[in-house]
Amino acid sequence: MPAFIKAMLPALLAWTVSAQKPQFPPAFPPTPALPSSVNYAPSITPNVLDATAPNAQAECPGYRASNIRETQNSLTADLVLAGEACDLYGYDIHELTLNVEYQAKERLSVKIYPRYLASNNESLYTLSPDLTPQPSAEEGSNKAGSDLVFTWSNDPSFQFRVSRAGSGEVLFDTFGKKIVFEDQFLELVTSMVPDYNIYGLAESLRAFRLPNKFTQTFWNAYNLDNDNILDVNGHSTHPVYLETRYSNGTSKSHGVYARNAHGQDWLLRPDSITYRTIGGSFEFYFLSGSKPKDVISQYQTGVITTPYLPAYWHLGFQQNRWGYLNWTNLQDVIDAYADAGIQLEAFTNDLDYLNLNRIFTHKDPQYNVEEGQRFLERLHASGQYYLPILDPNVYAPAPENQTDIYPPYDRGVELDVYIRSGANTSEYYYGVLWNGFSAYPDFMSPAAQQFWTEQFVEYHEQLAYDGWWLDVSDATSFCTGSCGTGMLDENPIHVPFPLPGDPNTSVAVDYRYPEAFNLTNATEAASASASLASQSSAYPTPTATPTPVLARTLPTPGVRNLTFPPYAINNFLPGHSLVKQVLSPDAVHKNGMTEYELHNLYGHTSANASYHALLQAIPGKRPWIQSRATFAGTGNFSGHWGGDTNSKWGNMYFGISQALQFAIAGIPYFGVETCGFNGNADMQLCTRWMQLSAWFPLYRNHNNRNTIAQEAYRWSTTAEATRRIMDIRYTLLPYTYTLFHKANTAGETVLRALAWEFPDEEDLKAVETQFMSGPSILVTPVLEALATTVKGLFPGVGSGTIWYDWYSLQKVDAIAGENKTLQAPLVHQPIHVRGGSIIPMQKAGNTTKTSRMMPWSLLIALDKNGEAQGELYLDDGISIHPDETKNVELRFSRGILSTKVSGEYNDGLSLANITIAGAHGRQHRGWSAHHGGKACDTQRAKMMYGEGGVLYMTDLGESTRDGIWSGDFEMRLH
Ligand SMILES: *[C@@H]1O[C@H](CO)[C@@H](O)[C@H](O)[C@H]1NC(C)=O
Ligand SMILES: *[C@@H]1O[C@H](CO)[C@@H](O)[C@H](O)[C@H]1NC(C)=O
Ligand SMILES: *[C@@H]1O[C@H](CO)[C@@H](O)[C@H](O)[C@H]1NC(C)=O
Repeated sequence: MPAFIKAMLPALLAWTVSAQKPQFPPAFPPTPALPSSVNYAPSITPNVLDATAPNAQAECPGYRASNIRETQNSLTADLVLAGEACDLYGYDIHELTLNVEYQAKERLSVKIYPRYLASNNESLYTLSPDLTPQPSAEEGSNKAGSDLVFTWSNDPSFQFRVSRAGSGEVLFDTFGKKIVFEDQFLELVTSMVPDYNIYGLAESLRAFRLPNKFTQTFWNAYNLDNDNILDVNGHSTHPVYLETRYSNGTSKSHGVYARNAHGQDWLLRPDSITYRTIGGSFEFYFLSGSKPKDVISQYQTGVITTPYLPAYWHLGFQQNRWGYLNWTNLQDVIDAYADAGIQLEAFTNDLDYLNLNRIFTHKDPQYNVEEGQRFLERLHASGQYYLPILDPNVYAPAPENQTDIYPPYDRGVELDVYIRSGANTSEYYYGVLWNGFSAYPDFMSPAAQQFWTEQFVEYHEQLAYDGWWLDVSDATSFCTGSCGTGMLDENPIHVPFPLPGDPNTSVAVDYRYPEAFNLTNATEAASASASLASQSSAYPTPTATPTPVLARTLPTPGVRNLTFPPYAINNFLPGHSLVKQVLSPDAVHKNGMTEYELHNLYGHTSANASYHALLQAIPGKRPWIQSRATFAGTGNFSGHWGGDTNSKWGNMYFGISQALQFAIAGIPYFGVETCGFNGNADMQLCTRWMQLSAWFPLYRNHNNRNTIAQEAYRWSTTAEATRRIMDIRYTLLPYTYTLFHKANTAGETVLRALAWEFPDEEDLKAVETQFMSGPSILVTPVLEALATTVKGLFPGVGSGTIWYDWYSLQKVDAIAGENKTLQAPLVHQPIHVRGGSIIPMQKAGNTTKTSRMMPWSLLIALDKNGEAQGELYLDDGISIHPDETKNVELRFSRGILSTKVSGEYNDGLSLANITIAGAHGRQHRGWSAHHGGKACDTQRAKMMYGEGGVLYMTDLGESTRDGIWSGDFEMRLH
């Protein structure tokens, strides 16, 4: 171990501190989801490190507005400090500009920013529109036509409200509170209604409905030891919330987005929200809703841009693990999936394929290139895909070591792409990651895009990968500051702690199992705890040095403290430190900006660069890029996964609310590490998790290399349950793909909270144990060990909504508000279809490609009036700009099914079956149909009534031989 690492050890090992705290997950069931004491400060503490620090609301003077200028759609004013500067956590900015814009009927923006740029103007950084969308006023927008009204007052200091036009309902209200605007501290407080319901503020693992005693911090970070701690800042920053207010049997919702990427805290308290950032400006967008789905759509279509449309194959199932040692290993897993009759669409390789964890390399002989080429040929020929890991950091070879050759680094130097050290800007910044000391491309620079694109293209020429998952893009580094400066000759060094699976260490083997494992497998559970005890005594975990409690730094006027700012956000890492496990905030980008301003954007900019590089490496095709860290707008080009989960029931549980957070954030292509990444899975957990994740758009099973294998075929019950649920997932691909099209074009959601589909039912406001896929499918997953039943609500039944069991198509007998018990043996997951839906389906093939070649069928689930409707979108499923598309509207009413098609795309597949659920009343004897204006041949078709009003029409194939969607179709029951 190099001497300097030894010297740094105490600090570096502080990561183990969290291991001594009570660990996630809570005992199941986690009810109440969160103890009200979590992150709760009884009164607003001005500084999380120092409760005696002054309160900005009490000590700062606020501002006074003058020189008001109004136009049809805007209001501008000067804001001048209304008294002596308080200079509490930075220095006060004396003169600000207020800009209010009525941007669209449903959108109002309020911006407050410094009037003059000081000489050190980076301290007054406002987020550039090049980095994330900054909406402007739509043409013709004006105050008179707005849903929202801005009012303000100078008494006692500048304060404002945003209300609904007409009703005057106040949505956001700083009256009685001061605006604080310092170079390193901004604060604004809004009053909230009692017991408010807000959602969003991704990312954190916690309840779906945010507690009103809670602090959400944004500082993208990774905790290697336990990446899924409840309630703390996660990998992403999405400062946007949805608020729903119920009254008298109905509800109204609105949205608030604060466009600022700095480290920040949102202090949710019973009667207020205090918003604090350590820089930037106030830039609020208020969205009028008034239903939850409207708010989400207004945010995506009007503010951050809508999510990308995935390729069809992105919706297939993916297998991953750290510990597939060679190509043969991968092939064996592929074969085993095929033998088990379980669909496998893609392999998402972990670090194993890389030589010494250096990106754009491959390990010989295990991952030999020629062998890899043959492997990929076979894989692609069978309609499957290869998605290796990519880290954004570039290994810096040891300068004195003639054999330490790594051309990608040298190319980066040649193009000068790397972020620089704040301590000495003539040097690059060198952090530590899996590959050793390494440099970080500044993805905001055109040079870095060129570098990245070249590497993607070159690598693709050797190995025809199909996409990347971009890990550690928080951006992570396991030392403090540019620790590699002057030390590169020590390379390649190991991260300063043992990695999971490193032999002869305390983490060589992970012996943890899910809750209840001792009940299902007492022998193995006992042997695991014995092995854990002997591993722990042979390799004790080094005692962690207690984190020093740092004194609050005091502001020096005119000087920013980038590494220990006067106000400490509530980052979960020891000491709330901003320098831990990430690039230091004083690291300098090519444009002179620092990580202090840009940290929360590294995942966003690296994913964006990867997307554009993929467009060059694999031209014309929709890129598959998964980013571990995201910001507002990342969903436009990337998906996201929920970090390193633990193989625990509580972890699986919170994946649902995490998915719903990302639905609001505009990243519908979301999934979690199914069966858990850290710790061992067991049959029970993995079975239920494979069932749950089958509804998440990103569906992948992934585990750590020091745990037991957990592929879906490892336990026969898990395999059986997986075959059943995956058949359903693949059968519904046309439906899910259509949902993504609607997300892409209209900002609709894919996974949905029950409260969004049934916004008038207040008892749904906190439901996080059930969810919907689109408007028509209700999922009630089993989230508890050993359960064979599960309880679920059936929303809408009080106002006539009918639900059908997916499997039997029998109407559910439920009453409003009833938490109904459903049978759920291990291989079975309760799924229900909403009456009034028409769902176009194709029988599941073994890949998405073969599924797309199956004949069509329609499930028509009738509502109480005997009617139903649905939609379908089709294209080639892969092109960035498909030449031909098809939109189909489907309607069933009074015994007549009709389709209305537009667009040229034709898959040439016939309609094989129609199933009608809820076909009570008169029994029909026959039917006739027209397709593209011509009468259909219905000779061979069969028609049969099943139990409980299900009408099956089969063998329709001949009647729509040219492809059911090639023309309008009309079918009448007689
Ligand atoms: C609540 O709804 C009822 C029935 O629609 C109506 O008569 C009543 O005026 C409403 N109350 C309020 C406060 O809106
Ligand atoms: C591949 O790895 C496996 C272990 O998973 C090992 O048994 C096998 O010998 C390796 N094969 C090759 C060709 O390296
Ligand atoms: C020099 O670099 C090579 C390749 O990374 C490495 O295998 C070797 O151990 C290094 N030599 C020394 C003396 O560190």
